[in-house]
Amino acid sequence: MDNQVIQTLKQRVNIVDVVRRYVPLRSVSGRHMGLCPFHQEKTGSFSVNEAEGFYYCFGCQAGGDVLDFYMKINGVEFKEALEQLAAEAGIELKEFRPDPEYDERQKLKRLCLDMHAEAQEYFRRNLGQAAGDAARAYIRRRGTIPEIVAAFGLGASPEDWHGLLNHLKAKGFSQEQGVQAGLLSKNEKGNIYDRFRGRLIFPIQNMSGQVIAFGGRIITEGEPKYLNSSDTPIYKKGEHLYGLHQARQAMTRSKRAILTEGYMDVLSLAQFGYEDCCGVLGTALTPDQVKRLAGFCSRIDLIFDGDGAGRKAALRSSEMILHLGVACRVLLMPDGEDVDSLLHKQGRAGLDACFDKAADGLDYCLDTVREGFAPREIVGWASGFLARLSDNALRAYYLPRIADGLGLSEADLRRYGGPAGGAALRQEPARPAQGVRARRSVGMDDVSDKKFIAFSILYPDYIPHLAKRGLHNFLTTQWAKSFWQKLFLQKFEDVFQDLNEEDRAFWRSTLDAPHMFSGEDLAEHWESLCTWIDKQRMEMMRKDLMQKLGAAHGLGDAAEVRNIMAALSALNAPSREEE
Ligand code: UTP
Ligand code: MN
Repeated sequence: MDNQVIQTLKQRVNIVDVVRRYVPLRSVSGRHMGLCPFHQEKTGSFSVNEAEGFYYCFGCQAGGDVLDFYMKINGVEFKEALEQLAAEAGIELKEFRPDPEYDERQKLKRLCLDMHAEAQEYFRRNLGQAAGDAARAYIRRRGTIPEIVAAFGLGASPEDWHGLLNHLKAKGFSQEQGVQAGLLSKNEKGNIYDRFRGRLIFPIQNMSGQVIAFGGRIITEGEPKYLNSSDTPIYKKGEHLYGLHQARQAMTRSKRAILTEGYMDVLSLAQFGYEDCCGVLGTALTPDQVKRLAGFCSRIDLIFDGDGAGRKAALRSSEMILHLGVACRVLLMPDGEDVDSLLHKQGRAGLDACFDKAADGLDYCLDTVREGFAPREIVGWASGFLARLSDNALRAYYLPRIADGLGLSEADLRRYGGPAGGAALRQEPARPAQGVRARRSVGMDDVSDKKFIAFSILYPDYIPHLAKRGLHNFLTTQWAKSFWQKLFLQKFEDVFQDLNEEDRAFWRSTLDAPHMFSGEDLAEHWESLCTWIDKQRMEMMRKDLMQKLGAAHGLGDAAEVRNIMAALSALNAPSREEE
C-alpha cells in the first residue's frame, strides 16, 4: 500500500473525532485525556495528540496513529481500517491500490453489504405492514417494547417464497447474487427462493452498524426454531456477537460485558436497562469473540442455564476467557428460566439476585473441577490449563491460585505445566502473540524456545542462519539461552558431551521424535521460523519506539515526537503490506 494514501488519510481524519466515538475525552491544557480503552484503569492515562495525530497510553504503552486506534478498537485488519476511514474522509482508494484480487474480494463484500441493506429495509418495512401482522402480534406476546424493536431493527419475513427475491430483483440484483449473499437459497433442482420465510427477523450488525447477516425466529410451528445466515463473504460464524454494535459504548463505560445465548435474551436485557449485553449467536463462544469483547471491557459476565449442559458450557467458556487474560463471572439461571423469562416475570430484582450470587470465573472452574473430576483428571485439567496459556505472566498469576484452589502443591503443578515446562507444553505450537494484550509481550515463550532448540538439533546447518537473525535476543529461558550458546559456539559433534542429563534427554527425545517438524516442507518450516523472528524483532523495535514516544510526549518535545512517529510509520508500512 502506498504511503501516500496513509499520509492523506492522516491529514484529513481528525484522530480526536474518531477516538471520541469510543472514549469520552476531556481537554486538559490543549491535550485530550481519557480512560484507556485498552486496559483497565480508574484514572485517565490515555492521551490523544490532535496536532500530531497519535494516541498514547501512559499506563499500558498502547499507542499509534488513527489507523492503529481504529484497527485495535474495532478488531479489524489494516486494510479494512484504511478503507473505512478513507470512505469517511472521502478519499478514493482505487487510484492507490494495485491488487486486483483484493479489489475483487472487496467488490463482492460491497455487493453483499448492499444486498443486506436492501434486505434489512425489506424486512423492517414488512413488520409494519399486513405481511407482518403475525410477527407484530408475536412481539407483543413476548413483551418487547417498540423502542427495543426499533433499536435492534427487528423485521419480519412473510410466508412468501419469493418476497425478498422479487425485492432484490427490483433493486437490480440477480438471483445468483442473492444466493451468494446467503439471502436466497437454491435447491438441487436449481430453484431459487427466500431463505427466511415466516420468521421474526433479527439483523446481525458488525461493529460499525452495517447489517451483515440475519437470524430468524419461527413464529408459528416449524423447524428450526432459529434460522441463522450461513457463512458469506461478509459473515463468519463465531466472529460476531449479536447486539455488540448497540452495546459497545455502554460496555466501555461499565467495563463489563454481559454475554448470553439468545436473541430474545439480549433484547430483554437491553429493555430492562442492562445495556452492556450481547449474544453469542448459536455457537459455542470463540476466542475471536472474546478478543473482540476484550477491546471494550475487562470482565465478561456469562449467563448460562443452570442445567448440566449449561454448566459444561460455562466451564468451557470461562476457561477460554481466563486464558485470554480477561476476567469473568458465571451466572447460572434458576431451573426452567432464561434471562428473558426471568426478567419478564421478576424484573430487574430477579436478575440482580442472580448477579449477587454470581461466581468468580476462576472460582467457578476450580469448584466445578474439584467437585466433578476424579483426582487424575484434576491434575490433568490444571496442567492443561496452565500449559495452554501463551503468556508467562498469566501463568505466574494463575499457578498459585489454581494450586491453592485444587489442593495441589505449587511445585508439582509447576513441573507439569509451569514455565519449566513438561510434555504438555511441547504439543502447543508456538503462537506469536496477537491482539490487544499480547502486543505488549515481546519475546518468545518457552514453547518457542524448545522449538528453536529442537530445530537446531535436527538441522544444525541452519544454526549460523539463526544466529545471523539474532535468535539469541528472542530466547526467553535460561535453559534455552545456554543450550543455544553451546550449539552456536561449539563444533556440533562436540555439543552433546557438554550437556547435562536433562539437556541430553531433550536432545535424544528430539532425535527420537523428528516428526515435530514433519508433514511440512523443511523450507516452509524454516520460512515460518524466520517470519516469527522477524515479527519479534519488529515488535521489540516498536515497543522501544513507543516508550521513547511516551517520554518525548511527556516532555512536550514536538520535534522528537514527529521523528519517532515517522520511524513508527516506517516500521509499520512494510508489515502492513503483507496483510
Ligand atoms: P434457545 O432454544 O434457548 O431459545 O436457544 P431462546 O433464545 O430462549 O429463544 P426463545 O426465547 O424461545 O425465542 C438459544 C439460542 O440458540 C440459538 C439462538 O441464537 C437462540 O437464541 N439457536 C437456537 C439457534 O441458532 N437455532 C435454533 O434452532 C435454536
Ligand atoms: Mn427464551
